[in-house]
Amino acid sequence: MNLRLIAIGLLAAFAGVLGAIAFVPGAIDGLMPKRGTVTIGKALVGGPFELTRHDGQRVTDATYRGQLMLVYFGFTYCPDICPAGLQVMSAALDKLGADSERIAPLFVTVDPERDTPEQLKNYVSSFHKNLVGLTGSAEDISKVAKAYRVYYKKVQDPALSDYTMDHTSFFYLMDGDGEFITHFPHVVPPEKLAERLAAELKKLPANS
Ligand code: NI
Repeated sequence: MNLRLIAIGLLAAFAGVLGAIAFVPGAIDGLMPKRGTVTIGKALVGGPFELTRHDGQRVTDATYRGQLMLVYFGFTYCPDICPAGLQVMSAALDKLGADSERIAPLFVTVDPERDTPEQLKNYVSSFHKNLVGLTGSAEDISKVAKAYRVYYKKVQDPALSDYTMDHTSFFYLMDGDGEFITHFPHVVPPEKLAERLAAELKKLPANS
């Protein structure tokens, strides 16, 4: 599977959806406020979740209130997209130094079948020290993916004896109340990501 092409395709599709929402507000009557695409975007992405952290603890979205959440969906067996994305995330957090403590970088698996807490614990140790691996039941994952409008699908790779996962590849930035701010493609330059994170940190209440 050419995951890079799929990622680009999804990006285009996502932009298309946003475009459609921006220009045809009537299409989503009853779901969202009609005025302001920013408000619509916030309403579309994110929401409550309950998942298992890589140390085995159950956590919810409320666990991360008062911090920015930088949320990425993927799986540990991913050959290139996820490692590249997590490296970008790690590099951006490194640039922020001590300020990165006020950001929760979350890696949510779309492959809970193989990504046990132990597997995630081992995997996240290759990236930024604050990176949190999250897994759960198939239902937990389906719920959080739906909330974040994340596409994922199990596919048999003819070149492999095992399966792989197709998945959306964005970073979702959420504010201290868990509300959507913006998203980035996983290939965003780390400097650019760090810049935006720093700007959003300035808006966080100082004591959080
Ligand atoms: Ni991946």
